[in-house]
Amino acid sequence: MARLSVAALVPLMFAVVNAIPQGPGGGGGGAGGGGGGGGGGAGGGGGGGGGLGYVPLVEKRFAWDQLPYKVDTDVGLIRGVQVGYNRCNSTTEGASSLCQTAYINSLDDFCLWAPPEAGSDVGSIEGEMVAWCTQAGHGTRIIPDGTITGVQFTKAPDYIQVVGFMNQTNINMLPGDAGGEMDPHGADRRGNPMGGLLYTNAWTGTYVQVVQWHNFMGADIFCLKACDPRQPNDARYCEHIFDTQGCGFNAPSNARNGVFESCASDNQPMPGQGVAVPASSSCSTFASTDIYGPSATVRVPIPGASTISYSSYPRPTPTSSATPSATAQSGSRTGTSAPAATESSSAIRGGAPYSAAVGAFAAVFGAFFLM
Ligand SMILES: *[C@@H]1O[C@H](CO)[C@@H](O)[C@H](O)[C@H]1NC(C)=O
Ligand SMILES: *[C@@H]1O[C@H](CO)[C@@H](O)[C@H](O)[C@H]1NC(C)=O
Repeated sequence: MARLSVAALVPLMFAVVNAIPQGPGGGGGGAGGGGGGGGGGAGGGGGGGGGLGYVPLVEKRFAWDQLPYKVDTDVGLIRGVQVGYNRCNSTTEGASSLCQTAYINSLDDFCLWAPPEAGSDVGSIEGEMVAWCTQAGHGTRIIPDGTITGVQFTKAPDYIQVVGFMNQTNINMLPGDAGGEMDPHGADRRGNPMGGLLYTNAWTGTYVQVVQWHNFMGADIFCLKACDPRQPNDARYCEHIFDTQGCGFNAPSNARNGVFESCASDNQPMPGQGVAVPASSSCSTFASTDIYGPSATVRVPIPGASTISYSSYPRPTPTSSATPSATAQSGSRTGTSAPAATESSSAIRGGAPYSAAVGAFAAVFGAFFLM
């Protein structure tokens, strides 16, 4: 939840180099949001004595088709009210959407958190980020064609994630902004963005709420990891305290610019337990125009789970409220359309312990290594 500020990067790089990845702690990373104050230990926020007086976001649960208009209805708190809403549909979809319900379903269908308006660095407005998705049908903004220039979707035993490269100015981010981290915690535990929810159908074929997740956006790199709530370590794989340390540290991957691929993967080490790129396998690669934009025809199956059924095109959008229908247009698909399967593994990466994302990240801030 802290911005990836240059000031914070100096000590952070030290931490990486010395392999003492303690949390940035009180570190410089000013807590986002207008209230700013207190870089106060990331995540430590609600620790003391309980009695927040409101329910932390991470403890709120909603069936996907029974979302309230806003999941954060608290008023009079330091960061104000939830900027957007969670009940999103065809009326809310488009360039002015303030939808704060996001999805990570597959290589072709995921969302990222990005600013509702241009002009601010991510670290200043993490609490206000809205969902930008690769596909229509979620009631959100749509990521403009050509924005994403490479991405790897992986399904690991404990999580799914997308890591990739983008032209971040296309989604209201400032050029050169080193960015920040979104997660359902935050110093006041209302989440960044406040009220932001994440769902996926990648595990069961129907939408389940992702309880623990993190999303780093900055330096033209993104990563979004959704940790499986059915697994015991979801909070640790989606750790939120290393919030100044970027994708290479928190979501190591084999993502390469110019490549669009969907893979099975081993688990990566839990953030803070060492950085290693997990082996990926059974990769299917695609042309971006086959999966994004008006010419897209391919629905990419979930790696290693190609026979599960998942929601079929057109993607369902939640209707107003209390219809207790469980799955909304679930269709069965088998992964017969996956072209160009290729294998890749971390070994090909020349033994480099860090991903390309870290490389780029380091390149941007290389000067600070020399200080
Ligand atoms: C990013 O997109 C903007 C327009 O949205 C363009 O001016 C700029 O050249 C692009 N940057 C790169 C590196 O392609
Ligand atoms: C669509 O979403 C908006 C915003 O949440 C909500 O006000 C409206 O009632 C929804 N429309 C329908 C038909 O559900």
